[in-house]
Amino acid sequence: MIDNIDIDKIRSEFPILKELIYKKPLVYFDNGATTQKPQCVLDRINYGYEHLNANIHRGVHYLSQKATEAHENARKTIADFLGAEKREEIVFTRGTTEAINLVAFSYGEAFCHEGDEVILSVMEHHSNIVPWQMLCERKKMTLRVVPMNENAELDMDAYKNLLNDKTKIVSITHVSNVLGTVNPVKEMISLAHARHIPVLIDGAQAVPHIAVNVQDLDADFYVFSGHKIYAPTGIGVLYGKEKWLNAIPPYQGGGEMIAQVSFEKTTYNELPYKFEAGTPDYIGSTALAEAVNYVQQIGIENIAAYEHALTTYATKRLLEIEQMRIVGTAAYKGAVISFLIGSIHPYDLGMLLDKLGIAVRTGHHCAQPLIDSLGLPGTVRASFGIYNTKAEVDIFIDALKRVVIMLS
Ligand code: ALA
Repeated sequence: MIDNIDIDKIRSEFPILKELIYKKPLVYFDNGATTQKPQCVLDRINYGYEHLNANIHRGVHYLSQKATEAHENARKTIADFLGAEKREEIVFTRGTTEAINLVAFSYGEAFCHEGDEVILSVMEHHSNIVPWQMLCERKKMTLRVVPMNENAELDMDAYKNLLNDKTKIVSITHVSNVLGTVNPVKEMISLAHARHIPVLIDGAQAVPHIAVNVQDLDADFYVFSGHKIYAPTGIGVLYGKEKWLNAIPPYQGGGEMIAQVSFEKTTYNELPYKFEAGTPDYIGSTALAEAVNYVQQIGIENIAAYEHALTTYATKRLLEIEQMRIVGTAAYKGAVISFLIGSIHPYDLGMLLDKLGIAVRTGHHCAQPLIDSLGLPGTVRASFGIYNTKAEVDIFIDALKRVVIMLS
């Protein structure tokens, strides 16, 4: 047991960790991109298809009723996990990207006009830039960008100055996928609310690693992806305060999201179904709930403490390497370390690490404006999950030292 974490037990629950990569044990440090899946999640997917498969909200028959019940129980699990007031405030989406597109489109349709402004930060992922850019093009609006200081922390004075009467929404990442910075989102929300401006928080890199309570944050919208929290790909969550979800129009039209349809006029379903056009991913939602239960059994506070210790250890060991440059040195960081070594190109480092069985991400990490603003060619990124260990960090450091000699 380390920091209340039974790491051997946890590792035994992830079948993929037994895989050999080029005949070497897998060291998977690309959890920021996606996480591996525990057996209970894999079993839940199979169980769904083997025992509970029928389209939901549509059938009077037994299987449809049971599948509907499982899907709606999953919604309740997610609502409780995020600390939402009501299960109706949880909309299932395909992931973070779709959730942000939904808000950018629907909120934009209802509340945004020519001349209005949207505030983002310099450290946003493309999924929290492009949908807002599309809105700005559609409505002739302007994007405003909060800069950061040399420690990769957002410049709060600049943020305060950007907030003005034309600001219609603020959309900020909770944890940067490149820098690891944990942003002061509660304070940012409070500052925006003082001017009656709603805030969306991109929680993709936060929810798997730190405790999140949307009511405590007072977030208007909070989004995350299942696949980054040990659940399958293709399922994600939009939390929205009921008042906003009621005030904005549907994003997609189709089955499920309607109350009545005629060729003259369609009326829409109640929350949250108004935003869930088409057959929902009820297998994904139940597998996501299973993953969330799994995380809760370990305890999100225990996970946060364990990953913090691992990240601190890895940072210390990385700094043993000559010409090491850690990109992102905020005081409060998540389980992400981006770095460069001398003038070695990140792709070269990543490709040679791969040959040694070590999976890291290289490049701009879907945050090109950030990487460009730093004048970098990209970075190598190690991002940790609940099954990673100090022993793996040691393997990684030894491998890096070998790779550096080969590339120097
Ligand atoms: N957003 C994912 C990452 O940071 C894909 O790698």
